[in-house]
Amino acid sequence: MPVIAIIGNKGGAGKTTLGINLASGLSVRGHTVLLDADPQLSSLQWRQLAVRDDLVAVHDATTETSGIIRQFREITEYVVVDCPPSVNADQTRMALEVCQLALIPVLPSPLDLWATIHVENELIAARSVNRNLKGLIVINQIEPRTRLSHIVGAALSEIELPVANTTISRRMAFRHAMLDGVSIFQMGAQGREAAGEMKSLVEEVINHVQ
Ligand SMILES: Nc1ncnc2c1ncn2[C@@H]1O[C@H](COP(=O)(O)OP(=O)(O)OP(=O)(O)O)[C@@H](O)[C@H]1O
Ligand SMILES: [Mg+2]
Repeated sequence: MPVIAIIGNKGGAGKTTLGINLASGLSVRGHTVLLDADPQLSSLQWRQLAVRDDLVAVHDATTETSGIIRQFREITEYVVVDCPPSVNADQTRMALEVCQLALIPVLPSPLDLWATIHVENELIAARSVNRNLKGLIVINQIEPRTRLSHIVGAALSEIELPVANTTISRRMAFRHAMLDGVSIFQMGAQGREAAGEMKSLVEEVINHVQ
């Protein structure tokens, strides 16, 4: 069953935030697990502090990452892997060997976008063992009601990886959901816009792994 790895080469781009919320959104469509492959174990901490027990399950996959991914993909509809902030980390390499889709959150700054060239190169290298591996950039933390600048557009045009039509805005609701130990889908009216964006990303991801 499809494995989606959330990867990147920069800290703080939103891998964990998107991982938790993507896995939560996918879990409505089919049984989903979130594997935490980042030694910081932020996703696992979120789940351990969670106040509800109907949230998506999170498992530690910081060691034997590829074996654990293979094990879970046999028994679940979707596997989401939250990777460390380096494409050279063993966990990221292992995730890239077995996933269908690498989702790459990037902040809307030209410097961050240019840095994704390294990510693209790793994806190309990983295709020697994982021929059908796809990559998808998702721009995260756009200021609501702000359009992507023309500089960002120029940086994007230098990268061959496709960019998701959905962009994710910078919204306090994402932070509050983490603090409250829930996903954006349990935030009610306060999380409505953010949940709408995540739903749209969930649809795009499903289309890429079908
Ligand atoms: N769309 C968003 N709106 C508001 N805050 C966000 C959004 N996405 C991420 N954040 C915040 O930005 C910070 C970094 O996000 P996150 O921890 O998800 O990034 P990361 O890529 O997993 O970081 P690391 O590389 O350290 O694992 C966190 O404080 C998170 O709450
Ligand atoms: Mg993280």
